[in-house]
Amino acid sequence: MISYIWLQKSTPFYYSEIFDMQTFRNNFFFSEKFLDHFCNPRNVGELSVADGYARVGDPSCGDFIEVWIKVRDDFIIDYKYKVFGCGGAIATTSMASELAIGKRLKDAIKLTDDDIIRELGGIPENKAHCSLLGINGLRTAIADYLIRDNHRKYQERIEIYRRAGYDIAKHREQLVDFVIDQPNAANILDIGTGKGHLALAIARRGLNCISIDPSAEELYYARLNAIHYQLDERIEFKQMDGRQMEFPDQSFDAVICADMIHHLSQPDTVLAEMLRVCNSNGIIAVADLNAKGQKIVAQVLKAEGKNHSILGWDFKQIQQWFVVAGTKVQLQQKPCEYFLIAKKA
Ligand code: FES
Repeated sequence: MISYIWLQKSTPFYYSEIFDMQTFRNNFFFSEKFLDHFCNPRNVGELSVADGYARVGDPSCGDFIEVWIKVRDDFIIDYKYKVFGCGGAIATTSMASELAIGKRLKDAIKLTDDDIIRELGGIPENKAHCSLLGINGLRTAIADYLIRDNHRKYQERIEIYRRAGYDIAKHREQLVDFVIDQPNAANILDIGTGKGHLALAIARRGLNCISIDPSAEELYYARLNAIHYQLDERIEFKQMDGRQMEFPDQSFDAVICADMIHHLSQPDTVLAEMLRVCNSNGIIAVADLNAKGQKIVAQVLKAEGKNHSILGWDFKQIQQWFVVAGTKVQLQQKPCEYFLIAKKA
């Protein structure tokens, strides 16, 4: 009987397997490429300084991998891993590392277990699940990188605005304060959530909400943020256009929307939808930039070579719209924003 022992050179604890190689070949029909990656796994090791990290396992068999990635200018420039698992886990993770290195993040995240299996020249049906480990490790490490990168950029951004006199985070907290002070505001809808920062502010107060946005990309980041802050169980993200919501009439106690109206060419369609989905004794809270806030945002973006398009709606018009619709309206001036609160009853 031929016994085959393989020990990971640099990481002895991660893998050791003893088996009859002939039986292995006869019974499992692995391709030469698979066996090459199994016997000579590429890119094994770990990165002491990594931009993204993941530890993922397969609960059905107990195997797991750790993955470290390095990212520069949106490209994965290194992918290291350790495996505690079967030959399938080793070969497929090795192939995942080869496919990932040199790819743009947005392309690497689209890699699937089918890509791995195809590149390896196929693997037996009963080992197909092993190919998920490398892919899950890659996706989770990318997600970890994106969360960290997004958090860093967000912190930089709010600090720039704060120094210019616009404290976005504080405005958001004040808006949430206002909503949770209302009696019966338990069932909350957040419209145009973007990367989910208003939803996070709501969830941090121990409240649940449904948050919608038409952009799948924004929602991807929003979900990552919610997972990062361990608030994902409190927020349900849905891809939906605020101008045409799928919710039945009177579904929510509070409908809330921050810094979104100024992006719209026809805000009245969203306002009508807000009114429709709000309970008969519920409230609608809309916050957006006032003249000072607009000026600061425009200055910051201009310094970065960008434009900030304001479509010319002012809150007096929005207020008038809610008055005509029969709600009781309060308009508050904050340092850089308007807060408009409309009550149906
Ligand atoms: Fe668990 Fe292969 S048997 S990953």
